[in-house]
Amino acid sequence: MSKQSAGVFIAFEGGDGAGKSTQAARLAAVLEGRGFKVLRTREPGGTPVGEKLRSLVLDHGNGEIDARTEALMFAASRAAHAAQVIRPALQRGDVVLTDRYIDSSVAYQGAGRNLGKDAVQSLNEWATAGLQPDLTVLLDVDPELGRRRRTAGDTAEDRLESEADEFHIRIRDAFLELASSRPDSYLVLPAHLPVDDLAAQILQRVEALIDPAADRPLPAARRASAGGGGA
Ligand code: TYD
Repeated sequence: MSKQSAGVFIAFEGGDGAGKSTQAARLAAVLEGRGFKVLRTREPGGTPVGEKLRSLVLDHGNGEIDARTEALMFAASRAAHAAQVIRPALQRGDVVLTDRYIDSSVAYQGAGRNLGKDAVQSLNEWATAGLQPDLTVLLDVDPELGRRRRTAGDTAEDRLESEADEFHIRIRDAFLELASSRPDSYLVLPAHLPVDDLAAQILQRVEALIDPAADRPLPAARRASAGGGGA
């Protein structure tokens, strides 16, 4: 859908502790250095209402949140994010980098919480009025490595992170399945690779979405023929 607008929409996905925010920051710095206007954002969150939903759904201590309520809270946060932040930025011609998008709900709520991947996908297509990334970078993390990285710092695990390993294994499988169903729209990389290697591979793939002469996003038609097309 963002192919119909001037900008480029890239989502970073993966299990907890995959290193998504590090890579999004690296890519943003390179693109900004080349003169692109880059919007870095995240889910849940990215808008005032989305940030409130983020604390409600992630913090411990808000009472029981059943799986459907949880899925609707993530979808509500995403609806606001797509309408108020992502679409306007793409229309301005910006590069939008989001830390998590629809695939996170399909993996965590659809597979992790067993709500069904198709049902959660449909809910989120409705919530975003069909806005899909041009490229999804999936950092595939072994759940054990993810847990080690998360628990290495001082920050306590949130409601989702603290789920059992079995939950995180289902999530990993769901992300990989999403990527293999539309390989042209994904770059899948093993999250255990050195940070610099990951950054180089991501940049190379993103360059296919960008006009090297003008240093701005390629027009949609050329993007598709460059092999970096979206959904
Ligand atoms: P994230 O912001 O990546 O975590 P942190 O900043 O603490 O590293 O994501 C927060 C958690 O929310 C993470 O465990 C994944 C979960 N999540 C879902 O379950 N569904 C969703 O749709 C999204 C966007 C996140």
